[in-house]
Amino acid sequence: METTLKDKTILITGGTGVLGQAFVRKAISAGARVLFTYLKSAEKARELEAAGSEGSVLDLADTRAIEEFAAGVEKKTGRLDVLIHNAVATADALIERMSEEQWDKVLKVDLKAPFYLTKRLLPLLLRSAPSKVFHIVSIAGLNGLAGAANYAAAKGGLIAMTKTLAKELGRKKILVNAVNPGFMRSSITEKVPEEILQKNLAISPLKAFSDPSEVADFLVFLSSDRMRQVTGQVFHFESRLF
Ligand SMILES: NC(=O)c1ccc[n+]([C@@H]2O[C@H](COP(=O)([O-])OP(=O)(O)OC[C@H]3O[C@@H](n4cnc5c(N)ncnc54)[C@H](OP(=O)(O)O)[C@@H]3O)[C@@H](O)[C@H]2O)c1
Repeated sequence: METTLKDKTILITGGTGVLGQAFVRKAISAGARVLFTYLKSAEKARELEAAGSEGSVLDLADTRAIEEFAAGVEKKTGRLDVLIHNAVATADALIERMSEEQWDKVLKVDLKAPFYLTKRLLPLLLRSAPSKVFHIVSIAGLNGLAGAANYAAAKGGLIAMTKTLAKELGRKKILVNAVNPGFMRSSITEKVPEEILQKNLAISPLKAFSDPSEVADFLVFLSSDRMRQVTGQVFHFESRLF
């Protein structure tokens, strides 16, 4: 059976990120109508639009903006087969130096926005069922990550939400799963000193960064009709953060 996304409408947040860009391009090639959101990377967004997708600026920290965006998606597409919560904000600090603002920003973008966007787009997902929601998570959400209590808490929350929504929405034929893409070179890892990155690689079984292109291929497969009976799961790419 061929892996195709023909006739699927897919929305991914953070389409201009490292994983987002790889997924948008592969989903277009697989035949999907692809909508994506971004915050600041206008140039990358133009390139993705030129490749055949539809981009929108959306600050996921702003609930009113999410509301307006969701209303626009409803009007424009009338259906939604796959929703991928991929965007991420980080604001790292050890707890004694982490401000309430840093905590709130990360929890808003990384945890509250996925809740709100799924809730708001649920009528479209129901109308298009069988449909799918994916949360892009991190090993930090299971093992913790020193210096990023806000990010780890948000990702742990997303894992719990994956399992809960799978239970709530299964009988409505909406599958909900999470993917941990592993340790990829991106704006997140850019902030980590090279020495620490190399130390992490040295103790990881595969001794290599995760490849966004491979993660995107996996997401294309999961988004396609070849995956129909998996829900409430967390898929891990090889990833070790101490
Ligand atoms: N990189 C890793 O090692 C790693 C490891 C484990 C899990 N993950 C997870 O994998 C996913 C993708 O990560 P990545 O490395 O591809 O990220 P990335 O390259 O840093 O991209 C982040 C994306 O989120 C968008 N964004 C940031 N703040 C936003 C906001 N307030 N509102 C809306 N959008 C916002 C960015 O938009 P602009 O480009 O327009 O600013 C960008 O599209 C994330 O969920 C991350 O937690 C990554």
